[in-house]
Amino acid sequence: MDIKNATFVISNTNVNKCPQEQLPEYAFIGRSNVGKSSLINMLTNNKNLAKTSNKPGKTQLINHFIINKTWFLVDLPGYGYAKVSKKARSKFQDIIYDYFSKRLQLVCTFVLIDSRHRPQKIDLEFMQFLGEHSIPFCIIFTKTDKLSKTQIQKNITIYKKEMLQYWETMPTYFTSSSVTCSGKNDILNFINKVNNDLNTK
Ligand code: GTP
Ligand code: MG
Repeated sequence: MDIKNATFVISNTNVNKCPQEQLPEYAFIGRSNVGKSSLINMLTNNKNLAKTSNKPGKTQLINHFIINKTWFLVDLPGYGYAKVSKKARSKFQDIIYDYFSKRLQLVCTFVLIDSRHRPQKIDLEFMQFLGEHSIPFCIIFTKTDKLSKTQIQKNITIYKKEMLQYWETMPTYFTSSSVTCSGKNDILNFINKVNNDLNTK
C-alpha cells in the first residue's frame, strides 16, 4: 500500500474531542523515546509530520493524522518517562488510559519496544492492560539499525520467551528502523489487510 496523502488533523488531551468520523484507527504507543513519532514519519514519507526529539517526553497530546482520506494514524505520549514531574506523568497516563478505554474507532494498537532492550515490566504491564480491555495489538521492535541481524533475532527470542509466560501465543510482531525504512512495507501491508477485512465485513 502506498501512502498518497497524510495530513495532520488535530491534537487533543481529551479523547471526547478526537475526530468523530467512523474511520479505522491505528495507534502507536510505547515508552518515551522508543521511536513512535519517527515511525509515523517513516511510514508516511514525511519527516515533519509528527514531532520527534532526542529528549524523551516530546509528544504530549493525542495526535490524529488522516491517511489517504480513509483511516487514521494516532501518535500518543510515551509512558514510563521518569524525568517528568509526577503530576505531568500522571496526566499523560490519564490521557493514555482514557484514549484506550474510550476510543471505539481503534482497530489495532502498535506497541513499540526498543529492539536493544530486555523485556521491561512497564511494557509487559501495558500489554496486559490492553489484553484486559480486549484491545488488539501488535508489537514493533524499533531501532533495528542499531543492532546486527543476529542480535535482533536473539533479543526477539528472549522477548518471545517472556511473552509466552503470560500469553498463549506471541502477538503478531514486526521489526522496524526509521533510519533505513526497514519494516515499512510489512507494517503498511498489515494495515492495508486489516482495512480490507473491515470493508468486506
Ligand atoms: P516521545 O514522543 O517522547 O514519547 O518519543 P517517541 O517515542 O515519539 O520517539 P521519537 O520518534 O521522538 O524518537 C526519539 C529519538 O530516537 C529521536 O532522537 C529519534 O531520531 C531516535 N529514533 C527513532 N527511531 C529510530 C530508529 O529507528 N533508529 C535510530 N537509530 N534512531 C531512532
Ligand atoms: Mg513522540
